[in-house]
Amino acid sequence: MDSSNWPETSLLDPALPQAGVMMRKVATGFVPIIAVDRTSSVPLHRQIYDTYRTAILTQKLATGQKVPSSRSLAAELGVSRIPVLSAYAQLLEEGYFESKAGGGTFVSRSLPEKLPFSGHDGQVKKLSSGRRAVSRRSESLPSFMPVPWLYGRGAFSVGQVAVEHFPFQIWSRLVSRYYRGVRASPLHFSGPMGSKDFRNTIAKYLRTVRAVNCDPDQIMVVNGSQQALDITARVLVDAGDSVWLEDPGYRLGRQAFMLAGCELVPVPVDEEGLDVSAGLAAARNARAAYVTPSHQFPMGSTMSPSRRRQLLEWAQSEGAWIIEDDYDGEYRYQNLPPASLQGEDRYARVIYIGTFSKTLYPSLRMGYLVMPSDLVDRFVAVRLAMDVYPSDLFQAVLSDFIQEGHYSRHLRRTRLLYRERREILVKALREHFGSALEIRGEESGLHLVATLPRGFDDQQVAKLAAQRNVWAWPLSPCYLGTTSQQGLVIGFGRTTPEEIEPAVRRLKRVLDELSRYRGTMS
Ligand SMILES: Cc1ncc(COP(=O)(O)O)c(C=O)c1O
Repeated sequence: MDSSNWPETSLLDPALPQAGVMMRKVATGFVPIIAVDRTSSVPLHRQIYDTYRTAILTQKLATGQKVPSSRSLAAELGVSRIPVLSAYAQLLEEGYFESKAGGGTFVSRSLPEKLPFSGHDGQVKKLSSGRRAVSRRSESLPSFMPVPWLYGRGAFSVGQVAVEHFPFQIWSRLVSRYYRGVRASPLHFSGPMGSKDFRNTIAKYLRTVRAVNCDPDQIMVVNGSQQALDITARVLVDAGDSVWLEDPGYRLGRQAFMLAGCELVPVPVDEEGLDVSAGLAAARNARAAYVTPSHQFPMGSTMSPSRRRQLLEWAQSEGAWIIEDDYDGEYRYQNLPPASLQGEDRYARVIYIGTFSKTLYPSLRMGYLVMPSDLVDRFVAVRLAMDVYPSDLFQAVLSDFIQEGHYSRHLRRTRLLYRERREILVKALREHFGSALEIRGEESGLHLVATLPRGFDDQQVAKLAAQRNVWAWPLSPCYLGTTSQQGLVIGFGRTTPEEIEPAVRRLKRVLDELSRYRGTMS
C-alpha cells in the first residue's frame, strides 16, 4: 500500500476556527550524509557536488528543501569553506540549487517531478515480483483499505468528536504555562508508567466517576487505547491462545489480538452485551475476553449485571483475563453510566482501558490502563521494550486541565451538545424512514446503529452515501463470525445540528434509489 494514500487527519483543519494555529511550511537545512575522503584523488568540491547531485536525483532531498549554509556545512565536515563554496556554485549554475536573497540556498523547485533515477545511489534495482518475506504476524493483518467511509470528515462520520468546541484557548494557555515553568527533570528520562502527578489525577477521576478500584501505582499512561491493547496482549497472551471477541465488535481492537497471533473466537452480543454462554460453548479455555461493557461497540448495549457476574466468574474459574475497553463511558444521556466492570471484580482479573480520544480529541493520543498490582512488573518490562515511556508534555497539561476543573466542565458541555445532536438525529431518522430502519444503541456514546431492511447491502449503501457527503459506516465489516446484520453505524459526534436533517434526507435518497433499482431487477 502506498503510504501516500493514507489520509491526513490534522487538527490544523480549516474547519477549526478556534484552533488559532497557522500552517507554515518548514524548510529544514538537514545535511545529507557526505563521506569526505581526504585520501581520494577526487577533489573535495567534487565529492560534495556529487553527493548533493545524487541525493537530489534519487529524491533523498526534496525540491524546495533548504540546504545548510556553506559555513555550517564546512564546519560540519571539518573542511575549509572553499570546496563547499565551489560545489554550491556549480550546483547553482546547473540548476540543482536555487538561492533566495537573504533567505539561504534551496534544492531547486523547478526540477521535474519525476527524476530519471530512483533507488539507492541512482542505481535502479529490479525487485522480484510478488511480496518479499515478512513476519507471519504482519501477514495476518488485513491490508489497509482506503474505503471512503473511514475517512470522511462530513456528516455521520464515526469516531469523531466536536473538536470545534474544544477549549483551545485554555489548552494553549496551559501548554505555554508548562513550557514557561518547565524544569529539567521531566525533560530527561521518566518512568514507563507515566508521570506520578498525572496518574494521581487519573486515579482520583476513575475512582469517583467510573467506580474503578485503583491506586496510581496500577495506572500506566499510554498513547491511546490502541497502545493499551497492544501492551496488554503482549503481556497476557501467547500466539495460538484463544481470545473471545465481541461479534460485532471493534475492528482495531480485534487487530491487536491478530497481531499477537491469537486464535480469535467470535462471541455474539445481544441487548445484554456479550453472550457469555455462547463464549463458554465455543472456547471455555480461552485466555482472555476483550469487551466494551459500558457501551458495546458498535451495537450500543450495556452489559447486564448477570452477564457481568457470569463473565467475572468464568475468568476466575478458568484463570482467564478480561480486557475492558471503556472508550466512551462518559457519554450517557438518559441515566447514570454503569459502574466499570473492573469495579465489580473481586478476583483482580480485569485490565481496564480508558482514553481521552472521545472526551477531548483523538490525535491527542492519550489514554491509560489499570492493571492488577501483581502484573505491574510485567507491564513495565513490556512497555520499556516497546516505547520506553510516554511523552511528558500532554501528561502535565492534561493533569492541570483536569485538576483546574476544565475537564469536568468540558464533559458537561459536550454531554449536552451530543444529547441534542442525538435527539435531532433520532427524530430525523424516524421522520424519514419510519419503521424501515431499526435504531439501536442511541442511549449513550457518539454513534448509533440503524439496521437496514432485508435485501440491502450496507457497503453499497455506505459507498453511495459517501458520494453524497454522508459518511456512515457499514455495519457488516464489524462482524468476525459468519452471520452478519446489514446496517449503518451513524456517528453524530462531529455532525452539527444543522447538518443532520439534510444528511438524513440524502441518505433516504440513496435508499430510495437502491429500492427502485432493486424493484427493476426483481
Ligand atoms: C471500541 C473503541 N475503543 C477505543 C477507541 C479509541 O481508541 P484510541 O484511544 O486508540 O483513539 C475507539 C474509537 O473509536 C473505539 O471505538
